[in-house]
Amino acid sequence: MSDDVTRARVAALVPAAGRGERLGPGAPKALRELAGTPMLVYAVKALASSPLVDVVVVAAPSEHIDDVRALLDRQEFSADVSVVAGGETRSESVARALIGLPDDVDVVLVHDAARPLVPVETVTAVASAVRGGHPAVVPVVPLVDTIRSFNEDDAIGPTVSRDRLRAVQTPQGFTRDVLQRAHAEVDAPVTDDAGMVESLGIPVHAVAGHEEAFKVTRPLDVILAESVIARRRVR
Ligand code: C5P
Repeated sequence: MSDDVTRARVAALVPAAGRGERLGPGAPKALRELAGTPMLVYAVKALASSPLVDVVVVAAPSEHIDDVRALLDRQEFSADVSVVAGGETRSESVARALIGLPDDVDVVLVHDAARPLVPVETVTAVASAVRGGHPAVVPVVPLVDTIRSFNEDDAIGPTVSRDRLRAVQTPQGFTRDVLQRAHAEVDAPVTDDAGMVESLGIPVHAVAGHEEAFKVTRPLDVILAESVIARRRVR
């Protein structure tokens, strides 16, 4: 890791401070291993390997910050990587990572540590779309299941046509001023940064996501992730 980030223009923030309770008991999710390597290392490597990313800032669980620093110090990354303490919510973790970004960063990506296998090409596509003039960019994928809405009493409602629905992944990309404004002004219960930015009235642009950018949430996702890693190793 290095403190020399003076030439940076694109930063990637990695909220990694979640507990990962749906994955079962154990270490915080970002530190759980996939094929012997902590999930966070894959995520940081994917971001740092994009030719457009200069700086990566990880928001780590505050009680594990020294372990995370030591873990990342042992790796070779092709971007500057630093670690800050995360917060009580995802959006607080992102806000903490935003503080102290170098002045010359003008594009900021936000990527969940829980999506460790995002292809580098997806990271680059999001960053280029922001550089190309879109102030807010999300990667999306089609849905495979039939979707139904349910009413407040949990009674089954109508099928929602999936043709017009997409699942939103990360990294999401923003101009720095837009993301900073959203974190300063929006206090709504949203699950991602694009939701916050949209509530400022700023349009969100979609690019193609990737099936390997899935979120590792449940035990079955670990099996899937390890299969993807094994397949990448034999290529
Ligand atoms: O809980 P969820 O799966 O939505 O978390 C998405 C991402 O946000 C994960 O990478 C998790 O580590 C991160 N997070 C965080 N700080 C929190 C809660 C979640 O950085 N307090």
